[in-house]
Amino acid sequence: MNILILGSGGREHTFAYKIKQSHRCNKLFVAPGNAGTEQIATNIPISVTDFEAIKQCILDNDINLVVVGPEDPLVQGIVDYFSETKELKNVMIIGPSKVGALLEGSKQRAKEFMKTHNIPTAGYQSFTKETLEKGKQFLETLKPPYVLKADGLAAGKGVLILQNIEEAKQELEKMLCEAKFGEASNTVVIEEFLDGIELSVFVLTDGKNYKILPTAKDYKRIGEGDTGLNTGGMGAVSPVPFADKDFMQKIEHQIVKPTVNGLSKENIDYKGFVFIGLIKVGNNPFVIEYNVRMGDPETEVVLPRIKTDLVELLEATFHQNLETVNLEVDTRAAATVMLVSGGYPEAYEKGKEITGIEKVEDAIFFHAGTTTKNNKIVTNGGRVLAITSLDKDFKSALEKSYKNIEKLHFNTMYYRTDIGFDL
Ligand code: AMP
Ligand code: GLY
Repeated sequence: MNILILGSGGREHTFAYKIKQSHRCNKLFVAPGNAGTEQIATNIPISVTDFEAIKQCILDNDINLVVVGPEDPLVQGIVDYFSETKELKNVMIIGPSKVGALLEGSKQRAKEFMKTHNIPTAGYQSFTKETLEKGKQFLETLKPPYVLKADGLAAGKGVLILQNIEEAKQELEKMLCEAKFGEASNTVVIEEFLDGIELSVFVLTDGKNYKILPTAKDYKRIGEGDTGLNTGGMGAVSPVPFADKDFMQKIEHQIVKPTVNGLSKENIDYKGFVFIGLIKVGNNPFVIEYNVRMGDPETEVVLPRIKTDLVELLEATFHQNLETVNLEVDTRAAATVMLVSGGYPEAYEKGKEITGIEKVEDAIFFHAGTTTKNNKIVTNGGRVLAITSLDKDFKSALEKSYKNIEKLHFNTMYYRTDIGFDL
């Protein structure tokens, strides 16, 4: 069959790499893609939220299966657009409906969903401009640090964690009354701070059945030791060593099952990935957030460990018979390190030539922000390349990645040398 992947990051290059290995894949397209996807697929220069252009691309290229990488098209309702459009009705698309995507698109909705289905999460209340004073009073009842979350999508920047009560009140006011995060902060969720170690669990669900994919832990801050500004993610490892059998059972029983059953009970059309951000407090898992897609760079360590044909898994997801496919996972660990442009996540320059890619051995490199210019591969984003390795444990895998990074170069290249430091 012909397959289209929407997106342009390391996540999408990893999907392309994995899908390309499937004997079920005939022609592979990525929209808009990057210099890495260009080498194994056909890039189509259209935006992931231009539904009309996507429809045309599907009809022109006889596409049978669409994998949606980022959240934006899902939150904007691409799955509903497919089911409502006559010519696209028979095209398989992986992702939740618009209502399903609200688990990521609205923090308040996600919290209500968890409350309804008894899924462990931090205590919370939500507020609007009209209830600002009540919000301030609620803050008084909490202990520091204070967690304020913009309800809507805010490009990963909408969560503030503050030590000081006066500052927390001021920020709440800025979010609600001065649109600090635009419309995303018209509603703000204030929640209890949970103290523990984070991990991510990925689930593929067809709306009834589910498969728990390998766990991962990502490193979001720009600086060593998890300091400095938040980024999209500077590296990741899989599996998470502390997520042992007992803990995974708790996650499955207390979180994964109630989540899938909750979606089904609420009649929500959800055939896709659920990325559950968790925190381990004592010995118990709590949900911090849901995302309705795979993570980036988590995908770069999760998919390379999946031995089952990914297209087979995706087809079964669409046809709601996921129970018929056996999920096989590589027992080796994977680690990935992101190479980023100097200055990222703030201002940075693009167009720097990347050299040394041909020297990489015993590792897989996934392109993130790259493009081709005059037959050269150049930087085209903050996160540029992810170097993934597999080995007996994450430390040995990391060693391989770091060894290969020494062969790579672009002007201003930066990366964290301490991925996995806290494990
Ligand atoms: P989110 O966008 O909801 O994933 O939040 C971003 C980050 O803020 C998370 O990865 C956590 O590190 C932190 N965070 C969010 N909620 C809480 C909480 N209730 N307690 C402690 N840390 C939190
Ligand atoms: N790495 C975090 C995310 O994809 O949201």
